[in-house]
Amino acid sequence: MGASNSSEKSAKTMNWDNLGFGLTPTDYMFVMKTSGDGCFTEGRLTRYKSIDISPSAGIFNYGQGLFEGAKAYRRADGHIQLFRIEENARRMKMGADRLCMPCPSIAQFTDAVKKTVLANRHWVPPAGKGSLYLRPLLFGSGPVLGIGPAPEYSFVIFASPIGNWYKAGASAMNLLVDRNVSRAAPGGCGGIKSITNYAPVFEVVKKAKAQGYADVLFLDATTGKNIEEVSSCNIFIVKNNVLSTPATQGTILPGITRRSIIEIATDFGYKVEEREVPLEHALDADEVFCSGTAVGITHVASITYQEKKVEYKTGEGTMSDKLRIALTGIQTGSAQDKKGWTVQL
Ligand code: COI
Repeated sequence: MGASNSSEKSAKTMNWDNLGFGLTPTDYMFVMKTSGDGCFTEGRLTRYKSIDISPSAGIFNYGQGLFEGAKAYRRADGHIQLFRIEENARRMKMGADRLCMPCPSIAQFTDAVKKTVLANRHWVPPAGKGSLYLRPLLFGSGPVLGIGPAPEYSFVIFASPIGNWYKAGASAMNLLVDRNVSRAAPGGCGGIKSITNYAPVFEVVKKAKAQGYADVLFLDATTGKNIEEVSSCNIFIVKNNVLSTPATQGTILPGITRRSIIEIATDFGYKVEEREVPLEHALDADEVFCSGTAVGITHVASITYQEKKVEYKTGEGTMSDKLRIALTGIQTGSAQDKKGWTVQL
């Protein structure tokens, strides 16, 4: 299915130089619902539009929902490619099991993503100008009042061209540590992409932003001593050329970008540790950076804790930058993909 002439025109009039991380509605979305037997059967592309959903849907009443984030990139040769999309499918399945939801198969998920990208191909920004962000959603769309799983589920994918997540673009961000709010607790849902993981930190992040910080760095809920995650991304520290990141033990999202960085750094010969990372190690690091689909790899310029601001090396020549260049090279097709992580459409 191709984009209509009118929407092709609006994609053609886009100013690709000024993309941030905001919603630009595109032409098509993908929708698939469970049938009577509770399984996902066949979905379809429809025009991008609001969806008709009951106020008693499981997602509204009991928060039974997940989302994913993935990107399609335009290569310099004009082709479009996806990065490790099966990993998104696997992570959604893990979250669906935790939230008692049926899930599209890996083949259904990846096929739906490819269809959505191709239908919106005019919205994939030119090489080097950004990417088409894909937002797969899985949620209880059937009506429910007594607490329990919904009787019907929907899988929806919409897309939007995006540029840099942080206003400062590829430059560095300033983080604030807030001990008073936890993002996730052991036994909870911090390790899956539950829709309910995000709004509980809006208030604290909003206050931090009002003070000029880019985001908040959260500590573990049990001891309040170890760094865990930033509101929207994973975190890494570098000390004496050793790369460390908090181990994923249920409270930290197992980021696909995070896993890719670990593999690339290991290939480069760096020592990589997944472990408990005490805040004091982060404050004593040479470099700190954040990782995620949306943020990519973004340098951290400073962490502020109890009014004390610690600054880090950023920019050219850092390990963070070397990893960023290697990762984005594979993602965008400017470097050879020896890992088989990308698929061209
Ligand atoms: C992503 O990095 O794609 C995410 O899902 C994080 C989200 C808060 C934008």
